[in-house]
Amino acid sequence: MRLPVQPGELIDRDRAISFRLGPWDLEGYSGDTIGSALFASGRRIFSRSFKYHRPRGLLCCSGHCPNCMMTVDGVPNVRVCVEPLREGAVVTAQNVLGRLDSDLLSIVDKVGGPFTPVGFYYRTMIRPRFMWPTYEKFLRNVAGLGRLDEHAGHSRRYDVEHRRARVLVVGGGQAGRAAALAAATAGPGVVLVDEGTRLGGADLPGVEVLAPARALGIWEGNLVPVDCETVLYRYRAERIVVASGATEQPLVFPGNDLVGVMLPNGVRRLVRDFSLKPGTRAVVLASDDLALEVADTLREAGVAVPRVVDLRESSVRE
Ligand code: FES
Repeated sequence: MRLPVQPGELIDRDRAISFRLGPWDLEGYSGDTIGSALFASGRRIFSRSFKYHRPRGLLCCSGHCPNCMMTVDGVPNVRVCVEPLREGAVVTAQNVLGRLDSDLLSIVDKVGGPFTPVGFYYRTMIRPRFMWPTYEKFLRNVAGLGRLDEHAGHSRRYDVEHRRARVLVVGGGQAGRAAALAAATAGPGVVLVDEGTRLGGADLPGVEVLAPARALGIWEGNLVPVDCETVLYRYRAERIVVASGATEQPLVFPGNDLVGVMLPNGVRRLVRDFSLKPGTRAVVLASDDLALEVADTLREAGVAVPRVVDLRESSVRE
């Protein structure tokens, strides 16, 4: 469900974009990700766990978990929560038999769980030996992630560009932007790389912004390959600033993988960036002040929050 216009939302409500999920024609807005458009259309299950086929919903909304991997235009394992929505995109579920909502292979979770505990090694099924090819074929079909379509007839071409930067900043949060702007006052050659869509087209004087883009690592000689759409930039930088921020970790408790359990930043992104109401009722478990603030974000979005638990105090407040 879309909320009324939120300050700073990324979507353009005047520009509808059509796409398909399996046999269904759906619509989102320009500025949506495929994940946010699917969520807006009422989808809550985005994938299935690769072994037990347990349902998986949006968790981080920032491209840092495996929960939203789907096949988009024939390309498997696309994290749809960070994949910009485009006209005519064809999205399909992967690793399911039947429908995402009622995956027949989820029988594995219901009846097979006790026989295949975590850490179960499939090659224990090598006996009798002549049966292994049969076992292997079966296991490969019921577990795993997406498949490459060898006959899809399309391929993505990647160009490689060699570039130099005086200062390369990785991460476009508050600290990264401040570092880039400060470096830009000392001269040209400042590049800012950010994986999110929010910074695309941002006006930072004297700073070249690459977003959404991913810095893949730092190699000898300050070599930083940057994956940006269909170009791989190989940057040689005099100085590198890493301002990649923090990655939220899920808490460990029974049922923490159920659809509807989300990380605070994921909730924040749904509400603020895409004007989506994440649910109707929520309990907030927080281990820092930023996570505590998500309770206010939820209330402003009309979500009832009967409990907020600050894990630093292990107390419950109304
Ligand atoms: S990567 Fe999409 S929900 Fe985590």
